[in-house]
Amino acid sequence: MCGIVAVIGSREAAPLLLDGLRKLEYRGYDSAGIATIESLEKVKKGSLTSRKAKGKLTNLSSLVDEEGSSGHIGIGHTRWATHGKPDEINAHPHMDQEGKVAVVQNGIIENYRLLKEELEAQGIKFASETDTEVIPHLISRELKELKSKGFDSNGLTLLTAVQNISTLLKGSYALAVIWVETPDSLVVASKEAPLVIGLGESEFLCASDTPALAGFARTILPMEDREVALLTPLGIELYNSEGIRQQRTPSLLTGVEHVVEKKHFRHFMLKEIYEQPEMADLWIARHFPKGFAEKAQVALPFDDSFYEPIEQIQIVACGSSRHAGMIGAYLLEQFAGIPTAVFYASEFRYAPSPLTPNTLVIGVTQSGETADTLAALTMEVNRREGQKDTAYQPRLLAITNRVDSSIARKVQHILDIGAGLEVGVAATKTFLAELLAFYGLTIAFASHKKSKTDIEIKNFIHEIQSVPHYLREVVQKHDQISEVLAHQFSGTKDVIYLGRGINYPIALEGALKLKETSYIHAEGYPAGEMKHGPIALLDPHVQVISIANPGIVFEKVLSNSQEAKARDAKLIGIAPESAELEIFDKILPIPEVSELISPLLTVIPMQLLSYHIAANRGLDVDQPRNLAKSVTVE
Ligand code: F6R
Repeated sequence: MCGIVAVIGSREAAPLLLDGLRKLEYRGYDSAGIATIESLEKVKKGSLTSRKAKGKLTNLSSLVDEEGSSGHIGIGHTRWATHGKPDEINAHPHMDQEGKVAVVQNGIIENYRLLKEELEAQGIKFASETDTEVIPHLISRELKELKSKGFDSNGLTLLTAVQNISTLLKGSYALAVIWVETPDSLVVASKEAPLVIGLGESEFLCASDTPALAGFARTILPMEDREVALLTPLGIELYNSEGIRQQRTPSLLTGVEHVVEKKHFRHFMLKEIYEQPEMADLWIARHFPKGFAEKAQVALPFDDSFYEPIEQIQIVACGSSRHAGMIGAYLLEQFAGIPTAVFYASEFRYAPSPLTPNTLVIGVTQSGETADTLAALTMEVNRREGQKDTAYQPRLLAITNRVDSSIARKVQHILDIGAGLEVGVAATKTFLAELLAFYGLTIAFASHKKSKTDIEIKNFIHEIQSVPHYLREVVQKHDQISEVLAHQFSGTKDVIYLGRGINYPIALEGALKLKETSYIHAEGYPAGEMKHGPIALLDPHVQVISIANPGIVFEKVLSNSQEAKARDAKLIGIAPESAELEIFDKILPIPEVSELISPLLTVIPMQLLSYHIAANRGLDVDQPRNLAKSVTVE
């Protein structure tokens, strides 16, 4: 994770860097820092200033206001700690011993211990516990070496130094480097980590993600893997890993929302929960335009050749996106009849299942930047491309909220979930949008594979079309119910969520939302699995939340809930109002809908309860501790 920005041009760098970092804060907020160089003309000698602060960006902004930071070139970083505690000493930028080279980095240098030992043996003293710090020391050593060979202090020398030391680095990284001796040159490099150059008017801004470029650049140049670039006020020189100069036409920066307001909501998370009915309305309008529902069809951007060869599906994803994938797998198997398996992307990467022919591999990621998901897909492409039999060729689909992201550049097919920018770190509306994408895909496969009759598909579509109406009702109602109920959780330490069938992933999602926003220990289980061990955890202090939606597993969930009740656990049911279920101490009512579409509604009380419990505890709901919105490290 972490966000990096770098700027060179005619304006003061610090305000541009801080503005860029503000837009990247979703990538990490453990600490932030900037370094700038004042130009040679002004002070006859380059002068490098670094400002760093622990915690959120506001701390850094105040520091820069107090102490200043001048110069037209600079680099900035917002950190999600990997190596070393989230304190000031480990905040980026990191420097060489003489304070001449400054570096910001996003990624992980996997062999940093070896490199550090080697540098320490040469007398280098390290100031931080980070993996990144080896980079400025290596660059500094390389610059000295190059200068001893007659290289001048210019941008190309800095570029050469970065190119040379990059062969020593294992892992993935995006980095930006400045050198006090070249106040008109900025070098950026990327390996398996995103970096985009924005082209302004005689200035360039480079960042981990496009939102940081909004308002600065209209055209962008996304860097490709293992590229290194030299940026000067005069232009960009881009080189590939073999050192060959690259010429690429910049593309237009599109689809970036500039301003996102909280409006009257206390937190973005609550606002985004409230946005879900309208988002579902828009999704339905886009995917079931006039005449489509009547013809049992869904409008997706794929032609027949996309669906026809597919015999099985594999889904790779992380966190909430994996939970959405699990519901997708249930739908694809139970409604469209396609064998589908779901994997943790981080596990699949190192232990993939044996290759199967005619397999669609779906990466689900709202950010489009999750390193584990990207790596799993890269691995899949590599092993499939080596196969002679065309049945094994890679067929990759991304379900994402960011059509301009790294995943979009990796796959042949994209399904845009169109949720709009999500600011709250805990996924809410993007989760629901991913679910909707899976409903659309399921209908498309069912119709192409004729696994359901037109009547069955039409009925399913009509049910989906009723969802926004129900969502409106459920969001309103549960906002009020959860606000009151949250007080009962003030001393709660453990919560267990139970669900079965298509609602089992919602139990997992409920537990994840509560953990990440309120820091309460929570687990989700398939209700039938409780008796095989987890039931030992139950006592009167444990809160159990059970999803009991009428359908094939309704009675089973009720029996499993009874078993929890018999162990004195406090029991809340997410169930239809009409179901008069006296076993529950409290019912969180949901409309009576078919089991297949129920996850679109049962997730709402989960989201709102987590939100209100966290808000009631006075926690930082939108930016919970230790998390980031885009997880770009393995
Ligand atoms: C949970 C959450 C995370 C993400 C996970 C994957 O609220 O936000 O679990 O779902 O990090 O992120 P994406 O979807 O960007 O790949």
